[in-house]
Amino acid sequence: MSEPVKTIHTTEWEAILSEDDAAENTRALEHGQLLHLPRLAFSLSADERRFLSPRWSDGKAKNVSYSPVTRQVRHTSAEGGDRDALASMIGRYAEAARTLVTSVCPAYSRDLAWGLTSFRPVSAANRESSPKKDDMRLHVDAFASRPVRGRRLLRVFSNINPAGEPRVWEIGEPFDNMAARFCQQVAAPWPGSAWLLEKLHVTKGRRSAYDHIMLGLHDGAKLDTDYQKIAPRTRLELAANTTWIVFTDLVMHAVLSGQYLLEQTFYLPPAAMQDEAMAPLRRLEKIYQRALL
Ligand code: SIN
Ligand code: FE
Repeated sequence: MSEPVKTIHTTEWEAILSEDDAAENTRALEHGQLLHLPRLAFSLSADERRFLSPRWSDGKAKNVSYSPVTRQVRHTSAEGGDRDALASMIGRYAEAARTLVTSVCPAYSRDLAWGLTSFRPVSAANRESSPKKDDMRLHVDAFASRPVRGRRLLRVFSNINPAGEPRVWEIGEPFDNMAARFCQQVAAPWPGSAWLLEKLHVTKGRRSAYDHIMLGLHDGAKLDTDYQKIAPRTRLELAANTTWIVFTDLVMHAVLSGQYLLEQTFYLPPAAMQDEAMAPLRRLEKIYQRALL
């Protein structure tokens, strides 16, 4: 297995990199490395530091979420001026994350699409609830309600913990190993189920075979308690005031502890990759020997 982490020493969100370095970063990401930027911090203003408290969560959802498209913030207790200030802080992060990705991986600029932004003010160790929602178990990301139809999930994370606490993660085995283990357990969807889920507004749009399998792998790994005990893993301490970028649909990951995180999701079509063969869509099509869209 290659090194799980590649370090980039930029201190600016608009990183100045040579063409070779940019291509090398992109290659590393696509091949499952996490790009860590230990000198890149997202700074809050004195006024924004008041948001570093779990009380801004609505107590129901795991995270406060924000849409860079509508600029609406959801799942927060904040109201009025507080709500506007919180939305503006998260919105500033969304823009910073986009600037970062387009400078570290300029080849993605044209095709990068906004996903949601999240602010995670609740301690990761006591956030959840059901085994399927438990991000302390190793998994690849897959969305139950938002089919991606093969598009990649590229995420930027910044630890903004004011007390200097790291976010502790584990990185698991390579995608192909995990998939070889769990693919046989993914049951075929009921005929008509994708249509019905869309009709009932359980999913936004039609769930593809790809989405069905990815969700099956996500759930299969999380629900397998033996696997969770024995799966190979590397522990990472992602320090406060640092940033990292990772394809979370490819890289097995789990969060063990930490509090106060900002995260931006981007969607990317596999065709925009340097090496499309590394897209989970293509990895799975190889295993299943058929088109999954
Ligand atoms: C996850 O994506 O599984 C959770 C990451 C985190 O909250 O640190
Ligand atoms: Fe995850």
